[in-house]
Amino acid sequence: MTASIIDGKAFAANVKETVARKVETLKNDHDLTPGLAVVLVGEDPASQVYVRNKNKSTVAAGMNSFEHLMNDDVSEADLIAKVNELNNDPAVHGILVQLPLPKHINEAAVIESISPEKDVDGFHVINSGLLATGGKGMVPCTPLGCIMMLKDKLGNLSGLDAVVVGRSNIVGNPMAQLLLNESCTVTIAHSRTKNIEDVVRRADIVVAAVGVPELVKGDWIKEGATVIDVGINRITKDDGKTKLVGDVEFDSAAERAGAITPVPGGVGPMTIAVLLANTVTAACRQAGIEEPA
Ligand code: GUN
Repeated sequence: MTASIIDGKAFAANVKETVARKVETLKNDHDLTPGLAVVLVGEDPASQVYVRNKNKSTVAAGMNSFEHLMNDDVSEADLIAKVNELNNDPAVHGILVQLPLPKHINEAAVIESISPEKDVDGFHVINSGLLATGGKGMVPCTPLGCIMMLKDKLGNLSGLDAVVVGRSNIVGNPMAQLLLNESCTVTIAHSRTKNIEDVVRRADIVVAAVGVPELVKGDWIKEGATVIDVGINRITKDDGKTKLVGDVEFDSAAERAGAITPVPGGVGPMTIAVLLANTVTAACRQAGIEEPA
């Protein structure tokens, strides 16, 4: 079998188009312009690129974008004060504090200071609790993007065997929860899992989110399985050149999988698209308006 390639870029463009259409309706019919505030602490170059892209995409979708840059020696109290200011700003419907934060700041304390209704990352403990109990909270962007692609490819996921490799609060844990909510039989594999190959071999759906380059070998993939690779790792090849690879050995996995996401161009572009979609959802809920279709 040769896998079909799941084009995350095209999928994300579609999601962004839908978001822009909804924003247009909210502006015209309700005089409501969704607003996303992004807080960046320090000058980490990778984070700066992410924040710039978020800002550009927010504006392109017709929404308001508010960027708050803070020095990397800002105190935790001052950062939380900034978050509180945004919690109380009616023009701001979504708040994202770019991670990682400098070591002197307690990330959990900052995340918990964001109003759960404005937590478009879905990282607040209230939102993870709602996800775990089937409630209506904000859902983390990357796992939600993965579920959207899986449902588009496979339709109903009920009863399928799903293996999530990785147990982070940002991707692995919420991903497993979302798959469980779709009635998959879910296994979370991680660094202590025994016989990880055998665990992956029985999966109809493999979601890899560990941040270890090509950890999941192609011959572990069941014939016809759907593979979602969340990893983005920069490696140096023998010739000294660098290259982006996922957490899955792409070429050999693509020979066995039914469908697979490439790296780059798979899951990556979906995260910002879903962030915008979450901001629209948050704005509608805060305004007490039904989200446009
Ligand atoms: N840093 C890398 N990815 C993310 C993300 O999805 N949200 C936030 N807040 N920070 C990040």
